[in-house]
Amino acid sequence: MAVKDLADALAEANLSSPMLPENRANPYPIYAFIREHEPVHHAPDGSWVLTRYDHSAALLRDPRFSTNPARLTSGPDPAAMGPIRQVGSSLMMFLDPPDHTRLRSLVSQAFTPKMVESLRPRIQSLVDELLDAVVERGEMDVIADLAYPLPTVVICELLGVPAADREKFKSWSADASRMLDGYLDQAAMDKGMVAGMYLFQYFTDLVDERRRQPREDLLSAMLAAESAGDRLSHAELLSTATLLFVAGFETTMNLVGNGTLALLRNPVELARMRDDPSLVRTGVEELLRYDGPVHVTARIATQDVEVGGELVREGEQAVAILGAANRDPEQFPDPDRLDVGRTANRHLAFGGGPHFCLGAALARLEGQIAFATMLRRLRGLELATAEPAYRDHYVIRGLTELHVRFEAA
Ligand code: HEM
Repeated sequence: MAVKDLADALAEANLSSPMLPENRANPYPIYAFIREHEPVHHAPDGSWVLTRYDHSAALLRDPRFSTNPARLTSGPDPAAMGPIRQVGSSLMMFLDPPDHTRLRSLVSQAFTPKMVESLRPRIQSLVDELLDAVVERGEMDVIADLAYPLPTVVICELLGVPAADREKFKSWSADASRMLDGYLDQAAMDKGMVAGMYLFQYFTDLVDERRRQPREDLLSAMLAAESAGDRLSHAELLSTATLLFVAGFETTMNLVGNGTLALLRNPVELARMRDDPSLVRTGVEELLRYDGPVHVTARIATQDVEVGGELVREGEQAVAILGAANRDPEQFPDPDRLDVGRTANRHLAFGGGPHFCLGAALARLEGQIAFATMLRRLRGLELATAEPAYRDHYVIRGLTELHVRFEAA
């Protein structure tokens, strides 16, 4: 089906682009329609949009595709894709091997399941402290009271960012991460650029400080790697610290927010997870699949590649709609049903291949502890808002606030 035909077919079915703000609350029927009608869709900007699970899973693992925006020779104009694509050339997510492998291996030791497991007691006490502050009120905003502070504090402690500075990151990080959305208006792009500059400056100063006085934190460990030889350039160190920082909480925050909303809208599943705490592992995987925090990731063809009968030419971009892949009925039986006991759940919420989310083990642990503790401690949990509002992001999907009620302790 040609570009115009899909647009017409969508309009006929009373549907529009999943990127539009009015579709934030529920893009899934649109994904299903596109997947059914044109699973490899050639978008008006020249990029290829994949909505099937098998196509996306194969794309992410295919060495013929790169993540380096400099490889892009057609499709979206890099200038229109947000400054992060232009200035972020040393961000690991935009590098190919061998630079990607070198950079990733330097920090990956800090994120192995074993290292992450050692953070369990601290994460548990943090979740307990955050809930202690609200249990007597009988109500809370899940985003402001739990979902935002939890991953922020964890990543700050891991990297070695002083507690006193945490609050100022809130808007910097939100504005900078929005640049991943691509097609932004000038005001949002300027805001993102300024926020990115503040973040880089902040980390430049902090790195200087750690250089003078190393501590037991990830930033000091990265500095040691830098001074041990030419394995890590200064620009790479700064961009990696900033990436970990932003990736560390913009996403996990939305796992807790989107996941709580999904459970509250599916009370039978909420009760299952509350009554059988052993379900928290499969439950968190299911929440990641059902309404994950990251809906899109992209690759650029380094040679002509056939995908689902279409030819993606060298230099063209293929976009994997992870949120659509995760609801593909060919891969997940009854995909629109939340089932906290779902097994064989190989979702793509963390992407795949060499760029598979570096922080997946940490995000999983934070999610498991947050949901298990919330369900155990907050009895009679229910939604206190009819239509929760979504943030103005498409790629990173999450709520601005989520008010809930429960029995006051
Ligand atoms: C629920 C929470 C999270 C989700 C859903 C998520 C999702 C993703 C996705 C979809 C990608 C792109 C993968 C690809 O293109 O194949 C990614 C990459 C990445 N994530 Fe996460 N993420 C989460 C939490 C975290 C955390 C807590 C950290 C770090 C502390 C982190 C650090 C990274 C990094 C560094 C990359 C780039 C990896 C590379 O290019 O090799 N993420 N994540």
